[in-house]
Amino acid sequence: MRSENTKLVSAGVAALARPNGERCNWPAARMASPQSIFRVFAVIALCLFFTLAGATAFAADYRLDPAQVEGPDACGECHKQTVKAWKETHHSSTFKDMPRSDDARAIADKLGISRIKSESDCLTCHFTMALEEAKPTPISGISCESCHSAGADWIDIHSDFGGKDVKAENETPAHKIKRLADSDSAGMIRPSNLYELAANCYSCHTVPNERLVNVGGHTAGSKFELVRWTQGEIRHNVWYTEDNTEASLERRRLFYIIGKMLDYEYALRGVAKATQNAEYAKAMAMRAQRALAFLKKIDETVDNDQLTAIINASASATLKLNNETALLDVASVVAGHARKFADANGSELAGVDAMLPTADKYKGAVFVPQ
Ligand code: HEC
Ligand code: HEC
Ligand code: HEC
Ligand code: HEC
Repeated sequence: MRSENTKLVSAGVAALARPNGERCNWPAARMASPQSIFRVFAVIALCLFFTLAGATAFAADYRLDPAQVEGPDACGECHKQTVKAWKETHHSSTFKDMPRSDDARAIADKLGISRIKSESDCLTCHFTMALEEAKPTPISGISCESCHSAGADWIDIHSDFGGKDVKAENETPAHKIKRLADSDSAGMIRPSNLYELAANCYSCHTVPNERLVNVGGHTAGSKFELVRWTQGEIRHNVWYTEDNTEASLERRRLFYIIGKMLDYEYALRGVAKATQNAEYAKAMAMRAQRALAFLKKIDETVDNDQLTAIINASASATLKLNNETALLDVASVVAGHARKFADANGSELAGVDAMLPTADKYKGAVFVPQ
């Protein structure tokens, strides 16, 4: 029944035309496969392991380890304006609004979920989990740590200039180097680590969850573009300067190009994991194709080795089902080049300027500090 080897993009229209009923066959089909039997044993083994290993083992169930999460109030002790800016975003409001919406209820019903705030299918992307009385509990929407990583191991380190009375301007150069290096190795994702920081966006906004999309009817990822989506409501440049100015032109060039690289990487991962010729696989394949087309267009006016290497690597990425190994291989090659690209000099990327979105296209209202 499934045309496994058909390329997904050309097969897309046919996939959409399939009757809904056929989508429901997939769990049964998976149960019968030898891998799934292994998976059942693996789950049992993991459950035992988690019971024995205690709280920190929840890490595997959520994006962040709840035992390591400090929560936005803890960040707000110093970053007051940043928290104010964040409170005006959909990332914050989703905590209250999403579970109450009719759209959410419709998705949950299709998936057989009764309580949205206690089902991990929704928790991974819409909420931040922390431990309350040793139990993982949703404490907010998508919060500081969803992007900068869980803070327990770095919250003290990153803000200590060398003792209680030492201010930023009196910190020794050697201390600063060590402080930043220690923050990084404790897992903090700082703006200088643009690849990791932006990868977070794509890990949620491509919606890499086949069942959620095919069975639940959740949107299969949005038309996410890194400049538009970071420079509107999400923008919080209120720490080093006070007026929340937009990222510099050089930085926006980097954002734009690395955003397309990440879009391509995550779409390849999405296709690799797809099992069904249906909406999810089709959307991921279209996403990969679109991102690659943008990269090729950028390559016409921008001279950059990483960009060219990614386009060359794309030749061995056939967008079809049952091609997991090959697609994941290309995705990790793309990731490697994108990481390197993050350190490119924005002043050498002017070739992309005609493609950069203008301020009137930024997504959501920019926070105005009072
Ligand atoms: C005790 C005060 C304090 C707390 C609490 C705090 N920060 Fe900071 N944060 C600072 C200071 C001070 C700096 C500036 C460090 C510097 O100049 O290098 C900073 C800088 C940052 C930066 C920018 C780093 C860079 O490389 O430019 C980020 C991101 C950040 N903090 C995130 C957080 C998050 C997320 C939390 C909560 C988990 C948090 N902070 C909690 C004081 C704090
Ligand atoms: C893999 C990440 C991911 C998971 C898991 C996920 N969502 Fe979403 N959801 C998103 C993203 C990203 C958006 C924003 C879409 C956009 O930007 O167009 C979104 C948007 C929504 C919206 C529309 C906005 C709103 O708040 O009304 C609803 C409703 C929703 N999700 C419900 C759910 C429900 C219910 C679950 C659990 C069954 C769930 N989502 C699980 C990523 C996810
Ligand atoms: C959706 C992801 C996301 C969330 C949520 C988020 N940040 Fe950021 N943060 C970023 C990005 C991206 C940048 C870098 C912007 C740039 O380099 O132009 C940044 C930059 C920063 C900076 C440096 C700002 C400056 O003035 O240069 C600080 C400090 C910071 N974040 C703290 C926080 C705190 C505290 C929270 C929670 C209240 C938070 N962030 C929530 C993604 C996020
Ligand atoms: C942990 C998952 C997650 C991460 C990480 C994340 N987002 Fe989101 N984002 C969501 C979800 C879910 C929504 C929809 C919330 C709602 O409306 O209920 C959303 C909504 C948004 C919106 C509002 C969209 C609208 O329709 O108005 C913007 C803008 C946005 N995200 C930008 C970003 C950027 C930029 C990054 C990375 C720097 C990022 N997000 C990282 C999950 C995430």
